Amino acid sequence: MMSAISTETGIPGGGCSPLGEGSSSAAHPEVRGWPIVGVLPMLLRDPIKFLFRCQQQYGDAYYIRVGSQRFLILCHPRHAEYVFARGHRVFRKKGSLWKPLRHYLGNGLLVSDGDFWLRQRRLMQPLFSSTRLNDLTELMVTTIDEGLSSWDKAAESTTPIDVEKEFGEITMQVSARVMFGAGMPSEQTARLGSDVSYIIDHMVRSMVTDSFPRWLPRPGRVRYHETLKRVRREISSLIEQCRQPDAQSGGMLYDLIRGVDGDPGDQMTPDELYDEAMNLFLGGYQTTAFALAWTVHFLTLYPEWHGRLQQEVDVVLAGRTPVFEDLPKLSSTRMAIQEAMRLRSPAWWIPRQAEVDEAIDGIAVAAGTTVAPLVHAIHHHQDVWENPSEFDPARFTSERSEGRSKFAWLPFGAGPRRCVGERLSIAEAQLFIVRILQRFDLEAVPGKVARPRLRTTLGPVDGVHVFLRPRTAYTSE
Ligand code: HEM
Repeated sequence: MMSAISTETGIPGGGCSPLGEGSSSAAHPEVRGWPIVGVLPMLLRDPIKFLFRCQQQYGDAYYIRVGSQRFLILCHPRHAEYVFARGHRVFRKKGSLWKPLRHYLGNGLLVSDGDFWLRQRRLMQPLFSSTRLNDLTELMVTTIDEGLSSWDKAAESTTPIDVEKEFGEITMQVSARVMFGAGMPSEQTARLGSDVSYIIDHMVRSMVTDSFPRWLPRPGRVRYHETLKRVRREISSLIEQCRQPDAQSGGMLYDLIRGVDGDPGDQMTPDELYDEAMNLFLGGYQTTAFALAWTVHFLTLYPEWHGRLQQEVDVVLAGRTPVFEDLPKLSSTRMAIQEAMRLRSPAWWIPRQAEVDEAIDGIAVAAGTTVAPLVHAIHHHQDVWENPSEFDPARFTSERSEGRSKFAWLPFGAGPRRCVGERLSIAEAQLFIVRILQRFDLEAVPGKVARPRLRTTLGPVDGVHVFLRPRTAYTSE
C-alpha cells in the first residue's frame, strides 16, 4: 500500500507525521516517501528540486526515510557548527551508513575514528604543507598539460567536448602521480581509474541498498568483489615498488613509507599504508573532477566572469607556465572555483551518527540517530547568502566574507575532520583553469545546460558539454 501523497509537494508521506510516542523530536516532520525505498526515487530523479521543496515545506530540520534508514536533515550553518565543531566528539562516523565505505576504505583517514584517526591525521597532515605543494606543482602542471594536449584538436572542430569526462581522466592521472610518483605509466593509471570509479559507484549504491530487505536483488556484487581484488593487488604492488631501496621519490606514498619528516619511530604498517593510499586516492579524484566541471559550466554561463579570469591570468602570468607562488595572485580564479563549489558542492551532505542523546540548536537528537547537515541547502541559505542561486565569485573577497559564519561554506567539511586535501585540490583546480584559459575560450552549447545528479558526490547527469575556441591573445610557453 502506498503512502498518501502531499498535493503541495508531490512528496509521498509528506507532512508532519509524529515520530512515535515519547519521541522528543516529534516536533520535526518526517518525509517518509514510498514503502521500502522511502524517498530514494525522488532523490535520484531530481535531488536538488526535491530537497529544496522539502526545506520550503518543512523548514531547516526534518527527517527523511531512505530504505530502512532515517536521517535528520539539517539545513542551517548553525547546525553544521554543532555537528562538526562543538559536538564533534558526539557526532561520529559510525553506524550502518559508514559500513559499506569501510569495506573499501578499511580504516583509512576518511572513515577511521577516535585516537587511531588522530594518529593517522598527524602523520599525514605534513604531506599537504606548502613545501610539499610547491614540490608537487610542476608535476601537476606537466600532467595537466599532457591531458590538455588532445583539446587542441577539439578546439579546431565544431564539435563540443564533454569536460566532465575529460577532467575525470586527467584528474585521475594527476591523483595517481601525486600519490605514486611521476613514473606511473598512463595506461596503468587509466585502468586503475576505471576500476576505482566502478567501486565508488557500487559503494554508494550499497550505502542505500544495504538497508533494503535481503530478498531484493543487488546487481553488480560479483563484479564489485572482482574489481576490488584487482585494485588491491595493484595498489599493494605499487606499495611494494615504493618500498624498494632504489625507488624514485616524488609521490606521497614514498613519503608515507619513509615517515614524512624522516621520523622512523612512527611509521605505518603495510595494512595501514594500503588503507591510506586508497583513501587519498578516492578522496582526491572524482571530487576535484566534478568541482572543475562545474566551474567550467558556470564560466560558460557567465561570460563576464570568463573574461575577468582570462584577464587575471594574462596579467599575472603573461603567457608563462604558473608556479606555486603565482597561486595567491590568481584570486579571481580561486573565487570562481569556490563559488562553483558553493552552488554545486561535490560533497552535498556529510552524515554523522549521534553516540549519545544530544541537542542540536534546541533539537533533541536521540542516541543512534543519523544526522546529515545538507551542504547544498546550507550553501543556499537566505540567512547567509544574498541571491543564493546567482554565480557571483566576488562574494568570496575578504570584505564581503567578513562576519559570515565559517560553517556557511562546507565543500570540504568543517571542524577537526575537515578535508586534509583541501589546499592541494584548490591548487590543482587553479592550475587546471589557468592552463585552460591560457589556451582556449570556452563557450556554452546552446540549449544544453548541465543538470546535477546524485552519486556519492554531486556530478552532472550527462556531462558538461562546451565549445572550445583557440585563443590568439596569449599562448602558453
Ligand atoms: C574538490 C576536491 C575535494 C572535495 C570536495 C573534498 C571533500 C571532502 C569532505 C567534505 C571531507 C569531509 C568528510 C567528512 O567530514 O565526513 C573530506 C575529507 C577528506 N578528504 Fe577531501 N575533498 C577533496 C579533495 C581531496 C584530496 C585532493 C584529497 C587527498 C589527496 C582528499 C582526501 C581527504 C581525506 C583523507 C579526508 C578525511 C580527512 C579526515 O577525516 O581527517 N580530499 N574531503
